[in-house]
Amino acid sequence: MGWDLLGLQPSLGEPAASEEVLTRSFGQLAPDAWYNVPGASRYRRFQRFSKVADSWEYADDYMFKQSLEYNVLVGDLERTFEPIDKEVMETGLLQLFAERQAAHWGIDLKAYEVAVHQFRVEVVGDHAGTSTPEGIHQDGHAFVAIVHWESHNIRGAESRIYNLSKRLLFSHTLRNRAEALLINDRMCFHDVSELHALDGQIGWRDVFVFDWNLKGDK
Ligand SMILES: [Fe+2]
Repeated sequence: MGWDLLGLQPSLGEPAASEEVLTRSFGQLAPDAWYNVPGASRYRRFQRFSKVADSWEYADDYMFKQSLEYNVLVGDLERTFEPIDKEVMETGLLQLFAERQAAHWGIDLKAYEVAVHQFRVEVVGDHAGTSTPEGIHQDGHAFVAIVHWESHNIRGAESRIYNLSKRLLFSHTLRNRAEALLINDRMCFHDVSELHALDGQIGWRDVFVFDWNLKGDK
């Protein structure tokens, strides 16, 4: 199947303090200069890592580029992001999530490079925010996972999966911590519906997006 829902269960054997580190870090992301939606903001950080032998290696390359084919808004632009906090990486939770995704797909973790985008989309007042201003799209990777962390005071943000003819196949609103939507990006398109603040004040949605590419095949 081209997609699946998975609970990544961050608490399983993990100290609660690690979860707190992740929660807090979403309040310390950097503004996304390429996000241009009135009444909404996107904040983000970025990290590439991969497993080599028995240890994780962390790339110090923070430039991210998608082709225009996959992103009509910011494709072909070289976007450089701030790294994910060292403290977050040191919890080991993102690495654990990557291991669980690889196990789910039945792929060799060491054959892939993982890139994690940490995102907050924030909406204010009556404005609508969107996590995917580029519309229905593929990301241009082998696999993608959206790992939900926290939604605060919002409605909407329904994740939707389409076949290659862009016919809707599945929709689901991620609301639980570490609830993940895994997507085979070669087989599906995806997007997310608009989100709104519940009371016309302020709301946000915090997620990690994992991109998977075979090493040497970015
Ligand atoms: Fe996407």
